[in-house]
Amino acid sequence: MGNSRIMNTQPDYRKATLPMDTRVRDLLSRMTLPEKVGQMMQADAQQDLETIILCQFAGSILHAEPGLIPKAIELAGQTRLGIPLLIADDCIHGYSFWNGATIFPTQLAMACAWNPDLLEKVARITAVEVSCTGVKWTFSPVLCLARDLRWGRINETFGEDPFLIGEFACAMIRGYQGQGLSDPTAILATAKHFAGYSETQGGRDASEADISRRKLKSYFLPPFERAAREGCLSFMTGYQSMDGVPITANRWVLKEILRDEWNWKGIVVTDWMNVGRMVWEQKICATYAEAAALAIRSGNDLSMTTPQFFEAAQEAVARGLITEAEIDEVVTRLLMLKFKLGLFENPGRPDVARQKAVIACKEHTEFNREVARQSLVLLKNSGVLPLLATPGKTMAVIGPNADDPQATLGDWAGASGQVKWMRGGHPRPMITTVLDGIRAHAPANWKVSHARGCDITYPAAAETASRNDGPTRPRIRAIAKPDPVMIAEAVTAAEKADFAVVVIGDDVHLNGEGNSTATLELQGGQLALLEALAATHTPLIIVLVNGKPLCLPEAVQKADAIIEVFNPGMCGGHAVAEAIFGLFNPSGKLTISFPRHVGQQPVYYSQTRGQHGSTYADLTQEPLFVFGDGLSYTTFAYSNLCIRTPVVRPDSALEVTVDVTNTGTRNGVEIVQLYTSDLVTSATWVNKELKAYQRIALKAGETRTVPFSVPVASLTLVNAECRRVVEPGEFEVLVGPNSRDKALLRAKFCVVG
Ligand code: NOJ
Repeated sequence: MGNSRIMNTQPDYRKATLPMDTRVRDLLSRMTLPEKVGQMMQADAQQDLETIILCQFAGSILHAEPGLIPKAIELAGQTRLGIPLLIADDCIHGYSFWNGATIFPTQLAMACAWNPDLLEKVARITAVEVSCTGVKWTFSPVLCLARDLRWGRINETFGEDPFLIGEFACAMIRGYQGQGLSDPTAILATAKHFAGYSETQGGRDASEADISRRKLKSYFLPPFERAAREGCLSFMTGYQSMDGVPITANRWVLKEILRDEWNWKGIVVTDWMNVGRMVWEQKICATYAEAAALAIRSGNDLSMTTPQFFEAAQEAVARGLITEAEIDEVVTRLLMLKFKLGLFENPGRPDVARQKAVIACKEHTEFNREVARQSLVLLKNSGVLPLLATPGKTMAVIGPNADDPQATLGDWAGASGQVKWMRGGHPRPMITTVLDGIRAHAPANWKVSHARGCDITYPAAAETASRNDGPTRPRIRAIAKPDPVMIAEAVTAAEKADFAVVVIGDDVHLNGEGNSTATLELQGGQLALLEALAATHTPLIIVLVNGKPLCLPEAVQKADAIIEVFNPGMCGGHAVAEAIFGLFNPSGKLTISFPRHVGQQPVYYSQTRGQHGSTYADLTQEPLFVFGDGLSYTTFAYSNLCIRTPVVRPDSALEVTVDVTNTGTRNGVEIVQLYTSDLVTSATWVNKELKAYQRIALKAGETRTVPFSVPVASLTLVNAECRRVVEPGEFEVLVGPNSRDKALLRAKFCVVG
């Protein structure tokens, strides 16, 4: 009796038994305009929580210090209507800012495994760790195409290929969102940055992107379309403008494509201060009220961190720049999401017991080690690797990144600078640097010495960052100079050793938002160090720990072995050492091309046809390493490319087989790549495009016939009318171990009808 009276006095939106749209309607009808506008705001939780939650009614927060999450949830509960908060953060390759969470390799590193199942599990583990902390939404994955490598955010991408980006993004989205919104271990995924943000000018972050609608439709939108169809529940916009229109004001992309054409039902969040930037940076709006109205009308639902939005959106309604009905439409979407997440029943209070049980548990750490193994790419091997366990050898481990925990983790991890509370980074014992890994795995009777050899950057006097839009990282770093004493120590260590493992690359100050680079050279004292080491004649095994492809000097190219791990995560050092000592057989392949010179850019493999010649007058146009490159301790041979369906119709599939033989003496895994080329197209198009791939394990000596089935509907181009079509005619299929023309077997087929 008592209970039912309470039930009856409860407002409808509190009644879990009522349909969600009834609850949303009821709640909306009770809300004032300021409360509605508040729901459209995502505030930086590093500011005063009382102000943003109690005075501005912020519906969502990001960058909440873990210890403050319970307080934020309670404050939201104290507001007049008690609408729960949607708490978000950048859990990019693991929960970046939870002290001691599992930090995986970066997206660029993990992409090199070419393994969607692996990526799905990475995202699942991340969701399991994140979902018990109060955070219900991650800003991952990144679907930007890596093209100009000077851009600071290359490490956040899956590489250069739109098809692979779509594959891997969908895998991570599945992992994050689990069984759906009612799954207590699910977190919302975000497809970002929608769309075209990476097409920078000169690599400079957030610059105007020179990008036509046809170019967007051809390369930049397809991965997002897949993410939308996969059910990704949020999209985050980029920062750039295209053809004079800031992405925040791009109704064509945000409404006509995303909602009307793709019929997508999620929410769009702006990037950091995007509404305000239209006033003070892009200068296309005179007032914040105009900017708020333009952003809402163009298709943005949630405004990330423009504090002025609260007053501005209300003023926009008062001035008739936007109607309250338009605001209601957005707020309905946002509230519906909160109901679907069950936040009204359970606002997501942190579950401390579960945190203890799952965050960085043994199972997650072991899996992380496997991710690091599969992500490692062997780029060169003169035969020195794997090292035999011959007793009594000495190994020198040299280089600025040999024992650098933050370079091992990369950007968006602990001390990478976006949040205030983790200046010291993740606990050092959780991170295995290459030096730690070598010490752990070298044969017991080997001697391991260490010399840093040089620095890359170092703290300098006050040269502060010029950006004023948000999670500023004081850029008080300078490029280091070679230090003769450090180099001499390294040379001595190398001379006394049988092998030198030289761990070089870049650091977190040369990567990330606002940290684009003008060159791709090895910075600091690295070149001088390498030249000195090359003169010792000790076999050099180079390990690259870097956020993005760098131009590798001759001293590196001539080394006995080159291993690329990008930023390999907490277990990276184990994987490197295990590879060096032959405890597993490397199988990773690059998803991004390496130029020889910064001026060769862009060097992505899928270039548009029609250029005069194929070389520069002063340098080859060939990249040093291409998309798909990667070696193994065994060798593979390709033969018998056979097209089973020489004539295909658009509604059928191209069936192809190829024989792959492990011609070496070790078991191994090969990533078999299939490209197609449309031989004549009505508008200029790319020379070849990846359409399928398979990771296959082959025993030494084994041959496998590998079948591929490629939907003909995927053999499209975007024609001059901006329509994606399959054009009948002759095509070629190319199959092999990487994207180099000379490495690929090829055969023709015909599309009819
Ligand atoms: C800016 C970045 O561009 C975006 O990727 C990130 O998710 C947000 N800030 C939130 O930190």
